[in-house]
Amino acid sequence: MAKLWGGRFSKDTNKLVDAFNASIEYDQRLYKEDIRGSIAHAHMLAKTGIISAKDGKAIEAGLKKILADIEAGKFKFDVALEDIHMNVEARLTEAIGDAGARLHTARSRNDQVALDMHMYMKKEVTAIMELLVKFEEALLTVAKKHDKTLMPGYTHLQRAQPITFAHHLLAYFNMCQRDFRRLQGVWQGADIMPLGAGAIAGTTLPIDRFQVAKELKFAEVYGNSMDAVSDRDYVLEFLSATSLLMMHLSRLSEELCLWSSTEFGFIELDDGFATGSSMMPQKKNPDISELVRGKTGRVYGHLMALLTTLKGLPLAYNKDLQEDKEGFFDAIDTVKFSLTVYRDMLLTMKVNKGEDG
Ligand code: ARG
Repeated sequence: MAKLWGGRFSKDTNKLVDAFNASIEYDQRLYKEDIRGSIAHAHMLAKTGIISAKDGKAIEAGLKKILADIEAGKFKFDVALEDIHMNVEARLTEAIGDAGARLHTARSRNDQVALDMHMYMKKEVTAIMELLVKFEEALLTVAKKHDKTLMPGYTHLQRAQPITFAHHLLAYFNMCQRDFRRLQGVWQGADIMPLGAGAIAGTTLPIDRFQVAKELKFAEVYGNSMDAVSDRDYVLEFLSATSLLMMHLSRLSEELCLWSSTEFGFIELDDGFATGSSMMPQKKNPDISELVRGKTGRVYGHLMALLTTLKGLPLAYNKDLQEDKEGFFDAIDTVKFSLTVYRDMLLTMKVNKGEDG
């Protein structure tokens, strides 16, 4: 299939280059945002008279059909079309003809991908905050049940003073509240609309960025087009907030591993949330805690990877920026999964109320 940028090329791309260049395998996750963003862009192009109202309507209907096809699993993504933006647009043009190609007027994939990422970020941060609240509720539920359950408090991992189990868990509750506030900040940092920056320096066409921002519910628009297409601070802020959140879960993990050992014996994990050993049937292993502790390193890694990707990048867009996605998506999945499984594990674990803990 002809490439969106194929105009000056007289030869097909090498197959290896297609495979190496493509992000479609992972950026297809952005399909909803890509299509919603394109519909808002088309509305704006039609309202400002840059394209005809008829083209605008055909584009919107075509995009909605593509959305339905993707959701029904009927859309075939093509690696040769590189990414979600070109896959959607090629299909649109195939379906509605020239009007489809006019959708890209006054737009570049550089500002398009930035828009998709901002929208996706706001959606996923909201979902993570909801899971975090549920996790906090679980901490409160268990703490409430054990506000008289005594246990040793430790400093230097040596018994220090008697505390209650609730006291200990509520320390994590407070950490989560700070995580929540940080995520609110991440959401706000992403609430800025980059479309209209074009490839680097905007466009001479009379676009209306504020209309797009309003339709897509963004509080403001970028002030500098070069910043708009090369900014990934909001992804770094997300990775740093989630690194801290995972660090908190990881510290709790370490405690649960210790507490569930025979040596401590403070808790027993529910059978549904532990694993056994075929060779050593006496064992009950705290795999979930261990894995959450282990996966924390993965999220830190994504933060370091993106910081490193950005550190030497000249303005504005460079293809290196495509590397922002896999770590970001993986961090989202890791945090969401960890919070969900952890919540149920806490609610089902048994806390031993013995005199000594
Ligand atoms: N898939 C690309 C990315 O994620 C989209 C932008 C491509 N822009 C370009 N000029 N090649 O970064």
